[in-house]
Amino acid sequence: MRAPLPDGGIVRKLWIGETAAYRDHLLRLDHESRHTRFSGAVSDDVIIRHAATAADFGVVVHGFFIDGILRGAGELRRFGPVLSGEGEAAFSIEKPWQSHGVGTVLLERTLLSARNRGIRSLHMHCLADNRRMQQLARKFDAGLSFDFGSVVGEVDPPRYTPLSILREALADGHGIAGAMLDAQSRLLKPA
Ligand SMILES: CC(C)(COP(=O)(O)OP(=O)(O)OC[C@H]1O[C@@H](n2cnc3c(N)ncnc32)[C@H](O)[C@@H]1OP(=O)(O)O)[C@@H](O)C(=O)NCCC(=O)NCCS
Repeated sequence: MRAPLPDGGIVRKLWIGETAAYRDHLLRLDHESRHTRFSGAVSDDVIIRHAATAADFGVVVHGFFIDGILRGAGELRRFGPVLSGEGEAAFSIEKPWQSHGVGTVLLERTLLSARNRGIRSLHMHCLADNRRMQQLARKFDAGLSFDFGSVVGEVDPPRYTPLSILREALADGHGIAGAMLDAQSRLLKPA
């Protein structure tokens, strides 16, 4: 499955040292998106502390960048013992870039990363009225079970293979090349 990204947008993993960009993106979310991303009201302090853990072991964040600014993110977190094969994913896209296929690309990349890390069960917590997230998960055949007003989507990424690892490595290489070209074209843009 491959959805086109909005013009000029690239998706790549966040590098160590980009937690500040992640924090700023999460803080820029409008009230409703912040609420749906964190399944409830959260303060700026909680977001700041959360973003600081993006560089922790077992966390992979894919970012959607436009003009060098992080506008969307897909976060994958392993939880429980390493061998439990369980992970959690969450997505955030700033309002002007919602419904443009960004979530689809971020979920696709997140699923590939989960698969390559031996995560067999990926939970996605979202509010029961979050139709868009549910539609998005359904595109990837995620089974959804309802529980006390929140939806826990469980996807079952297939086992990793040499090909799936190669696909992630190629996407990473593509992301680095894209970031370099993007930085260069912004340097050449008239001020
Ligand atoms: C939920 C979210 C991640 C979805 O990402 P997105 O980029 O907006 O979604 P996409 O454009 O990839 O669309 C995915 C699917 O959702 C559905 N969809 C898109 N826009 C929609 C809308 N306005 N209303 C209802 N469904 C919609 C479609 O089925 C679409 O697939 P299709 O275009 O192939 O038909 C994003 O909107 C977001 O960050 N929302 C705020 C935070 C949040 O809710 N996070 C999820 C909880 S972890």
